[in-house]
Amino acid sequence: MRPNSPLLFRNPALMTLLIVVSIGGYLGASFFTAAPSEPKNITGDPRAWPQRAQQSLLSPNEEVRVSAILEQLTIEQKVGQLIVGDISTIEPKDLVDYPLGAILAGGNSAPGEKAYAEMEPWLNTADAYYTAALSNQNVEQPIPPLFGTDAVHGHNNVLGAVIFPHNIGLGAANDTAIVERIGAMTARALAATGHDWTFAPTVAVAEDPRWGRAYESYSQDPERVRVLSRAFVKGLQSEPIGNGMILGTAKHFIADGGTKGGRDRGDARIPEPYLANVHGAGYYGALESDVGTIMGSFSSWNGTKIHAHKYLLTDILRGRMAFNGFVVSDWNAHAQIPGCSVDDCPLAINAGIDMLMSPWDAKDLYQSVLRAAQSGKISEQRLNEAVKRILSVKLKIGLLDGTMPSARPGARDKEALSGSAAQALGREAVRSSLVLLKNEDGLLPLPSAPSKITVIGQAADSFSNQSGGWTLTWQAREIAKEHFPFGATLIDGLQNHPASRDQDILFDPDDSQRTLPDIAIVVLAEPSYAEYQGDTKSLRVPRQNRAALNALDRLSKADIPTVCVILSGRPLWIEKLIPKTQALVAAWLPGSQAGGIADVLLGETEQGMPVDFSGTMPIRWPKDRLFAVKDDEEILFPIGYGLSYN
Ligand code: GLC
Repeated sequence: MRPNSPLLFRNPALMTLLIVVSIGGYLGASFFTAAPSEPKNITGDPRAWPQRAQQSLLSPNEEVRVSAILEQLTIEQKVGQLIVGDISTIEPKDLVDYPLGAILAGGNSAPGEKAYAEMEPWLNTADAYYTAALSNQNVEQPIPPLFGTDAVHGHNNVLGAVIFPHNIGLGAANDTAIVERIGAMTARALAATGHDWTFAPTVAVAEDPRWGRAYESYSQDPERVRVLSRAFVKGLQSEPIGNGMILGTAKHFIADGGTKGGRDRGDARIPEPYLANVHGAGYYGALESDVGTIMGSFSSWNGTKIHAHKYLLTDILRGRMAFNGFVVSDWNAHAQIPGCSVDDCPLAINAGIDMLMSPWDAKDLYQSVLRAAQSGKISEQRLNEAVKRILSVKLKIGLLDGTMPSARPGARDKEALSGSAAQALGREAVRSSLVLLKNEDGLLPLPSAPSKITVIGQAADSFSNQSGGWTLTWQAREIAKEHFPFGATLIDGLQNHPASRDQDILFDPDDSQRTLPDIAIVVLAEPSYAEYQGDTKSLRVPRQNRAALNALDRLSKADIPTVCVILSGRPLWIEKLIPKTQALVAAWLPGSQAGGIADVLLGETEQGMPVDFSGTMPIRWPKDRLFAVKDDEEILFPIGYGLSYN
């Protein structure tokens, strides 16, 4: 112990006493405090938020109908609507005793033993929960549950489904028409498996590339985020599927991408006008397309957990932003509110969360919310308000007049999952997402004259590297080629392309053959990751690329013309390797249709149509050893940067 430590630390007895007293005090306080104290809400200046006109979600007749249903519901049914449980812990038969408002399949939940499944088992699962809920004889008016999942770049938990580029690639494409078409195709794919709700789009503005979810953000440019969010929700929610429609979720409200150091679920310490105009932009876009749900963010604003933030969740979201759908919590996020737990958190409901996502404790949470409603800790007015919002959304999407998922018009629409149109859309989106950062001596497009081309880097043949997280499994680490019968890796795309028929293309993942080709293509990549598992302290090119980086050195010393392709969810520190390559392409996380990269490198589609680069930087690419950069001298490639062949 340091000699000059204060008296307190020098006196063990006194120190022990202090520890005992402080623990006792804490336990005592938490034991006797009836309810968690309401966290201090930052009551800021609402004028910072553009005012939207209030408008009811329902027509007058629909309002009457929802009110009539509300009248018939028992308090148990009302409380049930406020909870969404995961299929891994709630069985269909549970819905009779626990009439939950929704069920979800989280990132690693699926029917069967794996974290993913084919269309039919998903559809059977949807039917099972739907019919179980409607078989509830104890009530006059059984309410069907929603069935939600994270279809965030295509219907990514369905085996064989086309996986689209993650949002950062779509932000580079910056093409609202393509994003709207992806939204519509995703809606059809969800209906095919009996789902009616996706927790997408993420409308974050990822300010610091260290954030593990940076790739889920369309851009650091709020305007791109606004228009692309609007386009995706429009495509998703207006794709006609019988009398129903698919429900979207703008997430994570708010400033999930604005936390200090890019820490996932961290604290966004920003002034209110900045919060409103930068991190609110995506919500205004999604609201222009009438997004039906918004998901709260795990993160905090200036020290207060968003899930406890009544000013943001109620005053702002319902007032200035005039949101008329319902707010769903993130995965047990309510439990992170001081004084709350996974199975007890009236505070989140009272702050403005309408539906609590409870992956493992839905039954206990149901009991505690019921007790809170019976005791008045959750007022009848608040309970009815939340239920009314949820019923209104269910009515709007046709769920209250619907049929069993497998009897709906969109059921078993395999084309939407993996048909040629879906594959072509994916490949087109990949082409549009690529950003050309350098092209010395017009090395690209690759020559059509016979030449020896070596492709180096194991990522050139990896669906995990090219798709990123949320692909069949949450972290997408254990996925393999046989899982993507309708997809292609980069090497497949290059070797199978008609335009390369005269080329001799060798795949030498670790550069073990030390070839001296006419042209080399070196592929660098990040390992796949999702959420906080992707948070990083460095943007150094990951170690897995050692062979590829060594190859870059070897090839540049041997004056071999080289194209470097980067598969990443965010900018990496590549400043030093730029002089070693004649051409440089940012390909982001293209998903399953990486044949689109081959199209642009070769300058034409498989059908011989000329193609060019059209993508532009969606995010400020920092110089080495920097992260969230703002001034020009720190930025290697600014937002909007992108070269082309012409
Ligand atoms: C996760 C994510 C959220 C996702 C939800 C359900 O923790 O934060 O984006 O929608 O849980 O899987």
